[in-house]
Amino acid sequence: MASNTLDNSSKARVVVLISGSGSNLQAIIDQTEQGQLPIEICAVISNKDNVKGLERAAHHNIPAIVLDHTLFDSRESFDLRLQEIIDAQSPDIIVLAGFMRILTEAFTRHFEGKMLNIHPSLLPKYTGLHTHRRALEAGDKEHGVTVHFVTSELDGGPPVIQARVPVLDDDTEASLAARVLQQEHHIYPLAVRWMAEKRLEMRDNKCWLDGEVLPPSGHQY
Ligand code: GAR
Repeated sequence: MASNTLDNSSKARVVVLISGSGSNLQAIIDQTEQGQLPIEICAVISNKDNVKGLERAAHHNIPAIVLDHTLFDSRESFDLRLQEIIDAQSPDIIVLAGFMRILTEAFTRHFEGKMLNIHPSLLPKYTGLHTHRRALEAGDKEHGVTVHFVTSELDGGPPVIQARVPVLDDDTEASLAARVLQQEHHIYPLAVRWMAEKRLEMRDNKCWLDGEVLPPSGHQY
């Protein structure tokens, strides 16, 4: 369990939403257990059952909830139930870590300013899916990853932090994805730490860190 020396009352309450492997969740768990993140992960929620991220949560005694989106007849009804489950945890921060759902405007509004997402591209490039393939097809020499606040615009909220990686001549989608993922595991815990330490906020659709507005692409890692 967490070896963080802060007691739970001084830790930010975090809910993590996943759909799959949960390697970003793992990076956040690891830093928390090493005492580098003043947070308590109060729940992991997955819209898919039997995914590796749920095993990771169980392994670290973090309560996990499966909310299968296929059992709902509309995007609205799923998001409403998800919102209720998240609200029941009274979280300070909601972390989307490979949560592969398009969210309704009502849901994103409800959590605006508290919800972060990680997206595997240098936003505003390549919103949506298949970002690594699209970077390769475009002949980009550079690719990367962005953590951003979630707003109602898909992958469109203000960037908090970006990390860049080179695209190599012999890269495949898989090799490029792996290089990007390594950077994800550095920048996501850092952004969560800034939130937990109340150093980061979204105001006027911009990101502010330590009271200074961040550039439009966010902090460059
Ligand atoms: C990560 O590469 C993340 O950036 C991406 O899904 C992967 C999840 O990996 N997210 C998106 O594409 C969101 N649009 P993980 O489950 O191992 O953390």
